[in-house]
Parts: sequence; structure tokens; C-alpha cells
Amino acid sequence: MGDRSEQGGRARLRREARGRREAASVIEVADALHGSASGRTQDVRGKRNQRCETDFDSRRMCEAFPEGRDTSRMTERFNSETKLNMSERSKHNTSPALPPPSPEAQAHSARLQALITAEIAASGGVISFARYMELALYAPGLGYYSAGARKFGAAGDFITAPELSPLFARCLARQCEQVLRALGRADVLEVGAGSGVLVAEMLNALAQLGCLPEHYFILERSADLRERQQALLRERVPQWLERVVWLERLPAAPFRGVVLANELLDALPVHLFTIADDGPRELCVGVGDGDGDGALTWRTAPLSDPGLQTRLAAIRRTLGEDALPLGYTSEINLAAEAWLGSVAEVLAAGVILLIDYGFPRHEYYHSQRASGTLMCHYRHRAHGDPLFLPGLQDITAHVDFTALAEAALDNELSVAGYTTQGAFLLASGITEQLAAAGEKEQLQLAQHVKKLTLPHEMGELFKVLALTRGFDEPLLGFAWRDLRGKL
Ligand SMILES: C[S@@+](CC[C@H](N)C(=O)[O-])C[C@H]1O[C@@H](n2cnc3c(N)ncnc32)[C@H](O)[C@@H]1O
Repeated sequence: MGDRSEQGGRARLRREARGRREAASVIEVADALHGSASGRTQDVRGKRNQRCETDFDSRRMCEAFPEGRDTSRMTERFNSETKLNMSERSKHNTSPALPPPSPEAQAHSARLQALITAEIAASGGVISFARYMELALYAPGLGYYSAGARKFGAAGDFITAPELSPLFARCLARQCEQVLRALGRADVLEVGAGSGVLVAEMLNALAQLGCLPEHYFILERSADLRERQQALLRERVPQWLERVVWLERLPAAPFRGVVLANELLDALPVHLFTIADDGPRELCVGVGDGDGDGALTWRTAPLSDPGLQTRLAAIRRTLGEDALPLGYTSEINLAAEAWLGSVAEVLAAGVILLIDYGFPRHEYYHSQRASGTLMCHYRHRAHGDPLFLPGLQDITAHVDFTALAEAALDNELSVAGYTTQGAFLLASGITEQLAAAGEKEQLQLAQHVKKLTLPHEMGELFKVLALTRGFDEPLLGFAWRDLRGKL
């Protein structure tokens, strides 16, 4: 017994020593990144295109999609070669090797497919991909985010940054603190709160900083997720519950404070386009021909929304007339700029913080990303077939941050900061948080810091965009690396 507890004690000490070493090495790496980051910021100025190529190539090298390996949404990476292109997709309407769903899950998906098929029939044989994605993700009671299955975390389909580590919320809380203190009486509004874990961690962190907002509003589209958020907050932060208010729509009164959206915009429905012989066409969804099995299939049609033509023209203005060659297929997210417009309407003063994976336009629509960025997540596997089992899998596309910045300016917001998630978290004190953690926690938190900040993990692919109105202080999280010149 004595021996065993001595061995246990030694093992614990070894673990703790390892934790300290890990933490120290993570802090060293972070410092090195800081050094190179500042150097790179200067480098960017005046060398925009060269930097773009360098960034893109190095990303492609580390973005090879790890086929067959479990992936999480946040670390999934891919390049054009590893994705199915659209013509291959239509041939492969059934899916790559994925874990088989249960009979109940298949029945659920069949009900959603029947609803989608009925809408396709009522619409004359095709619906836009954006409408398909809308139904697949948000059809009441049936869509991926609206129905009851677990999405987030190890038991779900993917993991997001707040699910991974409390350090993410602690850093965001420091950025919010700056804004809340400067504005005086102010609120936080989180849009698309998922499981609610970020809300809970933010409230704890803001309370520790002595800076709780008057209200922490949540705007969540999914009724099922709203219920899950309520249960989680009742359990984890009952003492702050009275400050939390669930909204049905954006606040009617002018809003002062911080609007926060982590991985919201990548979950908004996108239109798909492809460049055909006679110009751009929209990729739409119809029902299979001939064999009578009623399977969903790809169709092409003229562009359904004038906004698509405007955006294609903007892409060509940025990348040159030779951009988007024959066969080039990608996405356009009109919903993101519409959403931003409606938030801008109610923001009286404060900051909108948007965190998501994506690129500036010249990287997004790069010639080597010729199959776009659309990706699906099903039980920690990433694949490229959005018509597979609607309702059972997540569908997502990267964010064009240049389009967001343009929409911000159109709505009289200032673009106050754009940087990588790694740089944002480092500037917001993630290594200080790690150093301050208890010895027992440090081993695990050191792993989180690596995942959240290293370039080949979430550090570079994820970006943070800050849009402001009536708030002129330089923002804490953007002090290390200012990438606005790349937008
Ligand atoms: C990918 S999840 C991200 C969840 C959470 N923010 C996180 O990081 O774990 C997207 C979330 O946005 C919600 N959502 C999508 N569109 C929305 C909208 N227009 N308004 C509010 N919530 C929305 C979804 O229901 C879901 O909760």
C-alpha cells in the first residue's frame, strides 16, 4: 500500500514536472512567435502579393487533409487536390467511408430528405445550394442544428475552441473587459452560442476580472441548442443566470457593448458557383434522374441572386480578370454580409468580434483553391459531400474576411482589427493564463495553448475580425499582429 502510494506520488510529481516543462516550452514558442509575428507585420507592408503566395503555399503544405484520421472541425484542413470536385461529387452522391448511422438516424435523415425533395418539386425541380444548406442545417426539428443529436465535443461531430479549452474564453474576456470598462454600462451579445460553454466560461472569467456585463444576451437560432444552453448554464453558473437573457431576434433598442460570434459565419448557408463555358453558373440541388431512387443530386442553373454577380465582379477586381478560370468552383456567403448589416443597424457603440476560419479574398479565391472550401463533418470525420445524409452532418464553408470588411464599411463600421487567432490569444494573455494556472492543470492547458495558437493547428487558419462603432481605443487582442493590410 505504502509502496503503491509512493509510486503514485512519484508518478504525480513526474506528471507535474512534465506539465511545468511543457508550459515553459509553450511560453518559449509563444515568445518566438511573437518575435516573428512582429517582424512579419512589417514584412507584409508593401509586399502584399508576395506574402499571400508565401502564406498560401506554407498553409497548403501543412493543410493536407488527414484522410481516415479522426478530425475536429477546428483543425480540419484541406486543399483543392484532396477534395472532391463538383463533377466527382455528383458521381459520388453516396458517401465516402464513414461510420454507418443508426436506423433511427437514417429514418430522421429520410424525413428531412422528403421535406427537401417536396420543396424541390414545388420549386420546379431545383433549389439553390444555399436553400438546401438552410434546410439541412436549420429545418425546424429536423435540420442538423435544430434536431436533438449531440454536435459538439468528443461525443458529437466536431470540437470548437471554447469546447476545447477554458483559456479561449479567458482571453476573450480580457478583450471584452477593455471594451466594457471603456463604455461604462454595457452588455455582451453572443450570437450562435452552441452548447453554451463559451457563455459559462466568459461569465466566470468576467466575474474574476470584476467586470460582469449588465446583461449577457444570447441569440441562438436553434430551439434545441437554446434548451441545452439553459441546462448547461443552470448547472455551471447558476449565480450569474439572472444576467443571461435569451433573445428571439437582435435587440430592438440601440446596443452598447460587445457582439461576439465564434464559428457562426461558417455555419450560414452559402451559394455555390462554377465557371462554365458560357460564364458563371450556380450549383443547385435537384432530385436524381432516371433510376427513380429519388436521391438528391447536383444541377446547374443561372445565378439566382444579383448579389452573386456583384461578388464575382469584386473577386475579379481583386484577383485580376484571369481569376476564376473554367471549372473553378467555390462558394459565396451572402448571408454573412446581410447578418452583419442587421447587427450594424442596432449597434450604437462597441465592438463586434468575429472569430472563424477563413482567408482574405485573394487567398480564398486563389487559383489553387479551385474546388472551394465547402466541408462536412460527421462524427469527427471531414469529407466533401454535402448531399450525404442531410440532417446528420454539419456543412460549413470558410469565411471571406475581405467581404466582411467591405460590408462593415458599407454599414459605417470601422475595421479596427484583423489578425490570426494565435496572435489574438497571445496578445490577450494566453501564456500568462497558462503560467498562472495550478501545477496540476498546466500539462493539459499547455496542450490547449498549442492547439489554439500554433500555426499548423488553429493558430493561423482561424482569424479574428474586430469591427467598431464609437470606440476608438486600440484593441488589446490586435496589439501583436495587425493584418488589416491583407484584407
Ligand atoms: C458551428 S456552431 C458554433 C457554436 C459555438 N459558437 C462554438 O463556438 O462552439 C454555430 C452556431 O450558430 C447557430 N446559428 C446559426 N445561424 C444563426 C443565426 N442566424 N442566429 C443565431 N444563431 C445561429 C447554430 O445554431 C449554432 O449554435
